[in-house]
Amino acid sequence: DKGTYPHYMLKEIDDQPTVMRKLAQTYFNDDGQVTIDDELLADLQSADRLYIVAAGTSYHAGLVGERLFERLAAVPTEAHVSSEFAYNSPILSKHPFFIFLSQSGETADSREVLTEVNAKGYHSLTITNVQNSTLSREATYTMLLNAGPEIAVASTKAYTAQIAVEAIIAKALGEATQQVAAADFDLRPQLGLVANGIQALVDQKERFEAVAKDNFVDQRDAFYIGRGIDYAVSLEASLKLKEITYIHSEGVAAGELKHGPIALIESGTPVIGIITQERTASLTRSNLAETAARGSHIMTIVTKSLAKAHDDIILEDVDEMLTPLLTIIPAQLISYYTSLLKGLDVDKPRNLAKSVTVQ
Ligand code: F6R
Repeated sequence: DKGTYPHYMLKEIDDQPTVMRKLAQTYFNDDGQVTIDDELLADLQSADRLYIVAAGTSYHAGLVGERLFERLAAVPTEAHVSSEFAYNSPILSKHPFFIFLSQSGETADSREVLTEVNAKGYHSLTITNVQNSTLSREATYTMLLNAGPEIAVASTKAYTAQIAVEAIIAKALGEATQQVAAADFDLRPQLGLVANGIQALVDQKERFEAVAKDNFVDQRDAFYIGRGIDYAVSLEASLKLKEITYIHSEGVAAGELKHGPIALIESGTPVIGIITQERTASLTRSNLAETAARGSHIMTIVTKSLAKAHDDIILEDVDEMLTPLLTIIPAQLISYYTSLLKGLDVDKPRNLAKSVTVQ
């Protein structure tokens, strides 16, 4: 039920602070310790490599997960597009463990991989929003997103919930294997900060409506750029824009611009830089300036501690590994308002289905 909301997508964007708080309750005990299934944890510990398999937005959440597992649990991790993995799979490690990310739990491309994984006797976890969905039933383990029904075709709260659950698992695994990075990662209070940071953004809707009106509605192309985890979010931000506004959009690794995509920049083309990682912030800023010199209209989405006077959208500071939970929100809202201003069907964009049950 969308209640008083004009569209499911707006409601689902607004649900995100609540979903973050709910996950903090579900997967932490009264002492504040992260808790996941013991057998799952043992299985994860005996794996020498994690394979995250997913499609679309869920794949983009997997790209963030890849970094979370490597940094917090020091386990090599690869995210793969399920339709590619199914027919062009990489050479597997000796003890692989598979993580399927799927909001619906019904994506046929992912199921194709899971069927093969089961045939080979490997163990797996499905992270899904739908209990008893096909991918949940067929995997060894299930963890739920607890995000409530996601009705809008463009996925929003499932993306942030998937990242939060990946962080929960990475922390549990890293603690079990005595990783300092995991012990130092104060995830539960961080999820509270994240919830507040999302709330601060969804409380400024008029601002994002104005950005949509002034800088996106009349554009043919738009680019999101970033490095590392910010690049992973750029891909998702760009997918949100193309899905519901039909504006051609690409997420580009900031350093790759000069190797090709910068040729597409014209006068007024929006280029949005996502900047949350101290190590690479100045590099991404230089890449933005290079596009501005070709006439682009640049905008920045930046965390407070890295912000400069001329930055546009400034986010509350959270742990550098959790910034995707905040940086995606402006992109979701800008896409929503651009779609609305173009008079499009926000919740049911053309040519797309909520759950893709064919390969
Ligand atoms: C994007 C979108 C799709 C889905 C993809 C996977 O907004 O909705 O890209 O993310 O079809 O779906 P699930 O997560 O249900 O497997």
